[in-house]
Amino acid sequence: MTQITNDTINEIRNRTDIVSVISRYLPLTKRGKNYFGICPFHDDHSPSMSVSPEKQIYTCFSCGATGNVFTFVSNYEHISFIESVRLLGEKLGYELNNNYHVETKNPDYEICSLASKFFQNNLYTSLGKNAMDYLEKDRKFDKETIKKFELGLSIPKLSVTEFLLNKNISLDKLINLGISNNNSKDIFLNRIMFPLHDLKGNVVGFSGRIYNTKDNSKYINTKETEIFKKNSLLYNYHRARDYLKKNESIIIMEGFFDVIRASTIGVDNCVATMGTAFTTTHANLLKKITDNIILCFDGDKAGEEATISAINVLEKVGVTPKIIRLEEKDPDEYILKRGKDSFIQKVNNPISTIEFKMKLLKSTHNLTDINELSKYIDDSIKELSKTKDDILVELTLKKLEKEYNISYDILKDKYNKYQEKIVNTNKIILNKQINTNKRMTKYELASKNLLFYMLKNSDIIAHVEKKVSYFPTEELRMLSNEIIYYYHKYGTLEIADFITYISLHNNLFELVKEILNMNLKDKYTIEEINDYIKVINSYNKDNQINKLNIKLKEETDPLKQAKILKEIMELRGVK
Ligand code: GTP
Ligand code: MN
Repeated sequence: MTQITNDTINEIRNRTDIVSVISRYLPLTKRGKNYFGICPFHDDHSPSMSVSPEKQIYTCFSCGATGNVFTFVSNYEHISFIESVRLLGEKLGYELNNNYHVETKNPDYEICSLASKFFQNNLYTSLGKNAMDYLEKDRKFDKETIKKFELGLSIPKLSVTEFLLNKNISLDKLINLGISNNNSKDIFLNRIMFPLHDLKGNVVGFSGRIYNTKDNSKYINTKETEIFKKNSLLYNYHRARDYLKKNESIIIMEGFFDVIRASTIGVDNCVATMGTAFTTTHANLLKKITDNIILCFDGDKAGEEATISAINVLEKVGVTPKIIRLEEKDPDEYILKRGKDSFIQKVNNPISTIEFKMKLLKSTHNLTDINELSKYIDDSIKELSKTKDDILVELTLKKLEKEYNISYDILKDKYNKYQEKIVNTNKIILNKQINTNKRMTKYELASKNLLFYMLKNSDIIAHVEKKVSYFPTEELRMLSNEIIYYYHKYGTLEIADFITYISLHNNLFELVKEILNMNLKDKYTIEEINDYIKVINSYNKDNQINKLNIKLKEETDPLKQAKILKEIMELRGVK
């Protein structure tokens, strides 16, 4: 078994021909230097996808899908990037294990990982016996599960701060990472420790649960740090994503222990928020890997409300989830009390949002009252008009027809009216998006043009590094840094390998995609490059001038006005 490293990945990529791999999935025809086929990533009718044997990448002119052989296979098969590496590697005779450790430049991950291992170790010492008993006897988790989720324990006598200080990590660093306080003491005391991972699987923080003490907070989390942003993480996301196969769902739960319990019965595709509400950021993270999302919140009223609000959040990003409602406190208790089969039965038969909402509406309307009944039907149809599933609409309307003896045509008419309204609002939203897209500043446009040529011709990277002082947005700066870093590390930049790198290291792939999709000619002159650089470098200056102009407008004192004016002139280069 070989460990997956960046070198192995690049080797596999080099030994695999993108044209023959994509040909296994769809017919390609040669035209000029490139091959063309029907794009599988949108509803394509004429061949919009081109595959370049020279660059070893594909690009769809219509929907903008682009990437290397790994992103193609992973998107087509709905598997993770690393799984696509394994799949293609196996075809070449590589035997690869599951472990890919991201080569990180950020030592903070290493520190958190050390802390996590230290906490885990504590649990197996004699001082950890009570906590271990709590997990095994009270909560009924076996050692294998405890290991799998890397559970640990914070013990004041076995201080993680002391341990890390002895490894020459500064106290400042430990304070910043939320591990220690100013007095060199541990933040987490006597708590069962859940390591929290970012989307790539790096440990970035912790949640600690009390087990034998009384405390106002059952759980505490690491404070927000440079690497721990709890609103953009989901518990167990990195593992669940790896279990996600074609057409499988992701199940969202409320608690860590719910996720862990589900895994003990082979339901490994669960995630949870960090004890916060489910937000659009979470929804977008999940949408990236699947449209098939199931909400399985606690069985109580609060869980019901959380379900309603998560449905709204998901519908806003275009996902219609399915719902599981439980007749117990939470998934953990449900599985313990009613067993594996009963839970799996639920997972295999989640109800639709419309069924869930109609059940709710039914419970809040007194259907023996004619006015309320009419309102109930109206509300139900309004909800129904939001689904995209035609069959579901038809079945529900027929059900209402039968149940309340109302003509199908009247129901359908009402449905159509609500539909029209929705179509109109969608149009408005779309127009808005087009307008915001147009509002890219000239600085951003110049930056993106420049980055396009950096990605396509590594010759100019060093030139740009010398000349550009500051890209106008954080994201653009990050990408240019990555390109420069990569170029120095490997001495060149092959776009197909850079795509591997960027897919595994951060969230910049979307930006790379956008840039590669810009309709620019491949040839460039150094004058053009220098023009882009000029525009980008004027960003800082223009920014300062703008600020001064605003100040100038607000200033009433003529002397001060003159002073500001002089500053502006100087910046403009007018003496
Ligand atoms: P167990 O009692 O350990 O089974 O937890 P639970 O998951 O059943 O508890 P609950 O439904 O109370 O909490 C669900 C999730 O909310 C937990 O997994 C935590 O992420 C979060 N949570 C619960 N209590 C607290 C708290 O006091 N503080 C914070 N920050 N988060 C909490
Ligand atoms: Mn619980």
